[in-house]
Amino acid sequence: FPRRNQPGTKQKLLGHCSRTLLISGNVSGIALFEATERNCSLSPPYLPNTAVNSSLRLQELRERMHFSNISAYIIPGTDAHLSEYIAPRDARMAFMTGFTGSAGTAVVTLGKAALWTDSRYWVQAERQMDCNWELQKDVSINSIAVWLISEVPYGGKIGFDPFLFSLKTQEDYRMSLESSNRSLKSMPSNLVDQVWKERPPIPPDSLIRLPDRIIQRSWQMKVEQIRNQMKENPYKPTALLLSALDETAWLFNMRGNDIPYNPFFYSYTLLTMDEIWLFLHTERVTEEMRVYLNTSCGGPLCVRLKNYDAVLDHLKEYVSSGSGVKVWIGTEYTNYALFEVIKPEDKLMSSSYSPVLTTKAVKDDTEQRILRDAHVRDAVAVMQLLMWLEKVVPAGKQTELSASVYVNDCRSKQKDNKGPSFETISASGPNAALAHYSPTGESNRKLKVDEMYLVDSGGQYLDGTTDITRTVHWGTPTAMQKEAYTRVLMGNIEISRTVFPSGTRGVNMEMLGRRALWEVGLNYGHGTGHGVGNYFGVHEWPVGFQGNNIPFREGMFTSIEPGYYKDNDFGIRIEDIAVVVPAHTKYGHNYLTFDTVSLVPYDRKLIDVSLLSPVQLHWLNKYYETIRRLMAPELDRQGLHEVKSWMLRHTEPLVDSKSSSTIRSPSPTLVTLALAVLCLFYA
Ligand SMILES: *[C@@H]1O[C@H](CO)[C@@H](O)[C@H](O)[C@H]1NC(C)=O
Ligand SMILES: *[C@@H]1O[C@H](CO)[C@@H](O)[C@H](O)[C@H]1NC(C)=O
Ligand SMILES: *[C@@H]1O[C@H](CO)[C@@H](O)[C@H](O)[C@H]1NC(C)=O
Ligand SMILES: *[C@@H]1O[C@H](CO)[C@@H](O)[C@H](O)[C@H]1NC(C)=O
Ligand SMILES: *[C@@H]1O[C@H](CO)[C@@H](O)[C@H](O)[C@H]1NC(C)=O
Repeated sequence: FPRRNQPGTKQKLLGHCSRTLLISGNVSGIALFEATERNCSLSPPYLPNTAVNSSLRLQELRERMHFSNISAYIIPGTDAHLSEYIAPRDARMAFMTGFTGSAGTAVVTLGKAALWTDSRYWVQAERQMDCNWELQKDVSINSIAVWLISEVPYGGKIGFDPFLFSLKTQEDYRMSLESSNRSLKSMPSNLVDQVWKERPPIPPDSLIRLPDRIIQRSWQMKVEQIRNQMKENPYKPTALLLSALDETAWLFNMRGNDIPYNPFFYSYTLLTMDEIWLFLHTERVTEEMRVYLNTSCGGPLCVRLKNYDAVLDHLKEYVSSGSGVKVWIGTEYTNYALFEVIKPEDKLMSSSYSPVLTTKAVKDDTEQRILRDAHVRDAVAVMQLLMWLEKVVPAGKQTELSASVYVNDCRSKQKDNKGPSFETISASGPNAALAHYSPTGESNRKLKVDEMYLVDSGGQYLDGTTDITRTVHWGTPTAMQKEAYTRVLMGNIEISRTVFPSGTRGVNMEMLGRRALWEVGLNYGHGTGHGVGNYFGVHEWPVGFQGNNIPFREGMFTSIEPGYYKDNDFGIRIEDIAVVVPAHTKYGHNYLTFDTVSLVPYDRKLIDVSLLSPVQLHWLNKYYETIRRLMAPELDRQGLHEVKSWMLRHTEPLVDSKSSSTIRSPSPTLVTLALAVLCLFYA
C-alpha cells in the first residue's frame, strides 16, 4: 500500500550481519524521546522540549503575505514533482510548523496558523508544534476551505505555490471556494523559501548513469520509442513534458541521490520531435556525462541542458513559439505551475499518465533478468534476519528497531546494495495492527516469543528495487492467528496463480486476494499491490490492483500483499513481488499469469495446511522448490551454510496430514527407485 515516510530520516546501522552470525545486536541503548504533549490552555502554555518555536518564522512569513496582499497562504508537504518522499529542502511544512510527519497541510493567515493531518500523526503534532498552531484533525481539502472561508475576509486572496499543487489539488480548492468570494492566487515564488534562511542546499553530488551491463535500451533508443508514440498519437502532440522524477531518470538511464529512499534527482524534460531539453542543476553534470548525453551537437539526438529553474520560462516560450504546438502532459504528476502556462487550451494534451510511465511499467528482458537477480540477493538478507530472530528473540533482548537495523545491515552486505527502499516496518504484537507503523524510539517494542511479528522492508540495488513482507510467530500462535495467516496466504496464492487474458485490470482480480478472508468475515483496509521499479521507486505507478492502475501486460512487476489486522492485538501481511509472464493454456493465446520473484519461505508454524485446497498446496510446494533451486546455489556461493540449512528446513514440502489426496511431485528417490524396479523387471 502506498506509504510516505518522513523525509531525511536515515537509520544508523548498529547491527552486524556477518557470515559467522556471532551477533549480539543489542541496541537497548536507543534513547527514548520525552513523551509529552503541549498544553496550550495553561498560562503560560506548557511546551515539551520537542516543540519548535515558530513565532519568528511566522512573523516573517506574515510580513511577506501582507506585502503580497494575501490573507492566507497554503503550505503543502510535497515537492514540485509530487514525489512520494521529499528531500529535506522541500520540507517547508515541517520548517514552518515543527511537525515532521509525512502527510499534512499547513495554512497561515495574518492572525492564525493551522495544520491538517491524519490520525497517525495527531500525537506527534501535539509534541512538535508550539501554541501558534491549531491542530485540525482532518485531511480533506473541503475542511481546509471551510476554515479558510471563516478566517479570510470577504473578497480576500489565498496564496499558494503552484509548483506544490497538482492539477487536482488546485481544482479541489477552487471548487470548495467557489461562490465564497475568496479567491486563490498562484504565486510561483515560494514565500516560505524567502524566510527559510537555513534551507538545505541542492545536493552537490554528481549525477550518475547506469552501467551498460544492466542496460538493454540506450537513452537514444528510449527517446525514439517515446517519439514514435507521440507520432502515432491521433492528437498530434509536438512536445512531451516530463515532470515526475522517475520519468526523466528512466529516459536517460540516469540516477541521483536527492530524495531519501529513491535514487532520483531534481529534473524536468521537454521532448519534441527534434529537440531534447533537460532541466537539472547543470553544475552536477560531469564532462563525461555531457559526452554521454551528446550535448555538443545540433541534431535530434542531442540533449540540451538547461538549469532546473528555467523550466517555467522555457515552457512559456515554447508554448508561444507557434500556433501549431501541443504539449502532452500526464495529469497525475504535472504541477499546476507548468499546467497553467500551457494556454490556450488547444495547446494542451493530457492523459492521466505520460507515455514514459506506461512504457516504463513494462520491463524489458534485461530489466526483468536483473530485477530477478536482485531478489535472489535480497532474499539472502531477509533469510538472515528471520534465522537470526529465531535464535535471539527467546533471550528477550531484541526490539523492533534492532530487527530493522539488522535487516538493513544484512542488505548492505549484498552486492550492489544502495540502502533501504523505504523505512522498514518492523512491528510486533499490537503495533503491527497499524498498517503504516514504523518503530520510533518511544514506540519501540521488545520482540517476544508469544507475539506475532511483521516485517515489511526492501532494498535498493543497482539492478533492482525490492519490497517484501513476512509475518512470523516464534511461540505458539492462537487458532485464530493461524487461520487468519493461512487465509491471507491463500489470498496471496490465489492472485499469484491466476491465469488471465492480457490486458486484464488488477482491480478485476483484486478480490481473489480477499476471498478466503471474506468467507469468514475478515478483510483488510489497504490496497492489494503496487508496481516496483529497477533501482527506482518502491511504489511505482501506474501498475497495481486499484481502479486507477493500468491493465496488466507481460513484463510488469507488482507486489501482491493481502493482510489482516486485528486492532490492539496483531497484524498479518504477506507480500511478494511477482512478474507478469505468459501462461500456457489449453485453448487460448495471449493469456498471462504471475511468477513470484521474492524468494523467502512463509512461516510454517502459521500455516494450517488443511485449509488449503489441493491446488493451493501444490502451488506452495512448487514455490518452495523454486526457492530451493534459486537460493541454494547463491547461499553456497556466499558461504552461508547455516542460512542454507535454515532455508532447506523451511522449504520442506508441506503435506496435508488429514487428506490422502495431497498433490506432491514424486520425490527423486522414489522416481529412481521406480525406475530401478522397472529396469530390473525388464532385465
Ligand atoms: C492542560 O492542563 C489543564 C490544567 O492542568 C488540564 O485540565 C487539561 O486537561 C490539559 N490539557 C491537555 C490537552 O493536556
Ligand atoms: C519564541 O521565540 C521568540 C523570539 O524569537 C520569543 O520572544 C518567545 O518568547 C519564544 N517563545 C517561547 C514560547 O519560548
Ligand atoms: C498590494 O496592494 C497595493 C494597494 O492596492 C498595491 O499598491 C500593491 O502593488 C499590491 N502588491 C502586490 C504585490 O500585489
Ligand atoms: C467580492 O469581494 C470584492 C471585495 O469585497 C468585491 O469587490 C466584489 O464585488 C465581490 N464579488 C462578488 C461576486 O460578490
Ligand atoms: C549525437 O547527435 C548527432 C546529431 O543528431 C547524431 O548524429 C549522433 O548519432 C548522436 N550521437 C549519439 C552517441 O547519440
